[in-house]
This record gives sequence, C-alpha cells and structure tokens, in this order.
Amino acid sequence: MSKNIIEAPFTQEMMKTTANLYRLGWDERNGGNISYLLTEEEVSEYLDTSKVIREIPMIFDASELKGRYFIVTGSGKYFKNVMDEPEVNLGVIRVAEDGRHVELLWGLEDGGRPTSELPAHFMSHIERLKIDPEHRIIMHNHATNIIAMTFTHDLSEKAFTRTLWQMCTECIVVFPEGVGMLPWMVPGTDEIGTATAAKMKEYRLVIWPHHGIFGAGKDMDEVFGLIETAEKAAEVYTLVQAQGGIKQTITDQELRDLAAAFGVTPHEGFLA
Ligand code: 13P
Ligand code: ZN
Repeated sequence: MSKNIIEAPFTQEMMKTTANLYRLGWDERNGGNISYLLTEEEVSEYLDTSKVIREIPMIFDASELKGRYFIVTGSGKYFKNVMDEPEVNLGVIRVAEDGRHVELLWGLEDGGRPTSELPAHFMSHIERLKIDPEHRIIMHNHATNIIAMTFTHDLSEKAFTRTLWQMCTECIVVFPEGVGMLPWMVPGTDEIGTATAAKMKEYRLVIWPHHGIFGAGKDMDEVFGLIETAEKAAEVYTLVQAQGGIKQTITDQELRDLAAAFGVTPHEGFLA
C-alpha cells in the first residue's frame, strides 16, 4: 500500500504505451484512449481502496462491472503528456455499486474525467469478458492509414477484412475473425458504445469510419499488436494504391492454406 503507484507495472505500461502511440502519430492532440482492467490485489498494493477522492457520474449503466477497477486515460488529455504527468493524465477508477458512477482512487489531479469514450470502453469490456475471462484492455486510437482507407475502400466487413488480409501475409493469423465496421456515428455517446460492444461479440478490432479503431485484448502487447498489424496492412494498401493499384495478390486459396498451416479459422464467409 505504501508503494509508489507510478512504479506499478500497469501505470508504467500505460505511460510507455501512450508515448509509443503518440510517436506513431495515431494520437494527435487528445486523440485516443485506453482502459485497462485491474484486480483489487494489484490496486491495493499501491492504493488504499477505501479512500475515494471523487465520484464521477456516467451517462450509462455499467452495473455489470460494479466493483471492478480500471486505469484509464483522461478525457481531453494528450498522450504526449502522459509520461511527464501521469497523475494528471491517467486515473484509477472503480465502478460504483449503482453502476452510474465511477469512484476516483488516484490521478486526474486537475479535476479531470475519464475518457469521453468510457461507454464504448465499458460496454466492450462487458462483452469481451463474456467471451474471454482473461480479457483486460480496450484501446482506441486514430490509426492514420485505417482512417484513410475508410474513405476509399468498400466498408463492408467482408471486403475490408479481405483486403487487409491480402496486404500482409501475417494478418489472417493475427486477426482471423476479421474486423468489425460501424457506420459513421457521433463519438462519446451511449449509442456508439452499444454498437461497438455489439461488434466486440465477434471481433477484437472494430473500425469507426473516418475516425479510428477500437481494439480489445488480454494484455497491452496483444491489443497493440492487433492494431499495429491492421494499421500496417492499411499502410501497405495506401502504398499499393499510390503505386498504381493491385496487379496480383494473395489468393483466397492461399489465405485458406495459411490459416490451416497456422491453425486459425478465418471468419466464415469472408473468403470465396
Ligand atoms: P477523450 O480525450 O475524451 O479520450 O477523447 C478522445 C477521442 O479519441 C474521442 O474519440
Ligand atoms: Zn477518437
């Protein structure tokens, strides 16, 4: 309990990851947010969990997560600043009994709030935990080439996924279930949260056209790896288009062979 929370592995991961994401150019200004599910044991090594600093109301009911702890990025906070002032830009929160508040236990020291995308994060956590009890992290960012591709490519999940799979041989192995796609929606709302979480039943990656991407995973490497693999494929697509378009690609049969060799099952119906 007397240990310094800045040195906690989860705080360090948040600091290093936000710096990395900023360096990659996917989190301009306050773009992007991360929420990371923690256990009470992890938190209580660093904080007195009976000391609530502030109660923060929420626009939706998260009672399915009551009593759960998260470290989150703050709303309006810049990823580039997290490393220098984690206590202002990050917060440790617990979902209150009523599911309508979160209790701030540490951080957001300037009176800040958790990310405005908390509905999408929390509803996605709820869905992913049903599928994967080891699930812990939701990450949103503004991955540049993924966003660009949502202006030029067919937005059907099947077509978008198949192109990403074709752009880098490893893609189908990393996300065999493909990518989910929402229509354009107003961010920060209950509605986009519900729609994102519905996709998370099937996908760990969900694209918000002309905005960015959401990823889910059991640890920071998994979620970061998922997003960077999809973004790399989108970057290759950008270059391929700039070089004059596709002359040849990985065939659907080759994608099937690849999936079989690596023991993964591609999303049913996405390959011919
Ligand atoms: P926050 O600063 O509230 O996390 O919002 C950033 C963002 O990317 C909204 O989609
Ligand atoms: Zn965003």
